[in-house]
Amino acid sequence: MGLAALAAVGMSSKSAAAEGVADGEDVPAWVDAEIAETKGRFDKWRKGRNCAVFVAITDLHSGIDDVAKYRHTAKHILYANRAAEMLGADAVINLGDWGLEYPVKKHHDGQKLLDTVFEFHSRAKVPTLFATGNHDHYYRVFSNEYLGLRYPRFCRGAVFGASGDYGYLDLPEKKCRVFFLNSSSEFPRHYGFDGAQLDFFRKNLSETPKGWAAFVCTHYCVDILGSWLPIQPHFAGKSGDRFRRIMEEYVAGGGVLAANLTGDSHFDRTFSKDGVNIFISQGYGTIEEKHRPKDIVLEKFNPNTQMLAELVAIDADAREIKLLRIGAGGQSRDRGAKF
Ligand SMILES: [Fe+2]
Repeated sequence: MGLAALAAVGMSSKSAAAEGVADGEDVPAWVDAEIAETKGRFDKWRKGRNCAVFVAITDLHSGIDDVAKYRHTAKHILYANRAAEMLGADAVINLGDWGLEYPVKKHHDGQKLLDTVFEFHSRAKVPTLFATGNHDHYYRVFSNEYLGLRYPRFCRGAVFGASGDYGYLDLPEKKCRVFFLNSSSEFPRHYGFDGAQLDFFRKNLSETPKGWAAFVCTHYCVDILGSWLPIQPHFAGKSGDRFRRIMEEYVAGGGVLAANLTGDSHFDRTFSKDGVNIFISQGYGTIEEKHRPKDIVLEKFNPNTQMLAELVAIDADAREIKLLRIGAGGQSRDRGAKF
């Protein structure tokens, strides 16, 4: 979401340098400690369950080099990879807004930042799924098709839509079909789904094998509860309404849908609407006080010393989804739902 909020973060370059992460496989000890802490809670909850496991990060709004020194959050992709490895996850999910047009756009066209993000993701030992955000096209320098050319190598087993920027991955042994969609695919709008993508989504959601759980990842939360102040209806227009209806009708018709997981809002929110569980993850984005809904509680954290990722576990047999926080907030941010 908003750029002004990001510019206002103002972390010093000194603290960024103090992070001490070399451009290699180096992961600081505090990262392993945070992951191990979450793993302890996960093992207790999991016991003998067979579940799909994902590590999701969102809204990195990452600077690189001398640009936006105060936001070296791109390195947290390496931390998410490490979490996936330690937790035995099936995939890493990047829920979008890894990009940061300002001030990167003033220095170059964003290509180097995009290449850096992909390079970090390429080091994961499991597939990576991308749910494109509203800051990932660099003011439309990158088309959906261009992003879509680059995603498939990160997940050879996925089924991609024609433009490659959305698709789904099946995990037969875990009885889970996970969708990764592009909620910013309708140029020139920042939010919305193109028709071909919604047709793909409707068809493949309805064909989710019996006894499996579907799981839908988007950057944007198509609900008023994701809104900043002043509160307003979602920005995704008619295509957003269609997207919601597809999920609602699927559930109403007896389909099994674990949840829609999103970022974008830069705060945590958990709710259920028309039979669909919705989890918003705060991620690494920031939000100025004047934009914060009164009832949300932000997790204050310092990305130089803490991570903020979600471990998502989906038990299709028990029809239960669990989100466990890796990093900021820890157990106090754990949540879940039946579906
Ligand atoms: Fe964002």
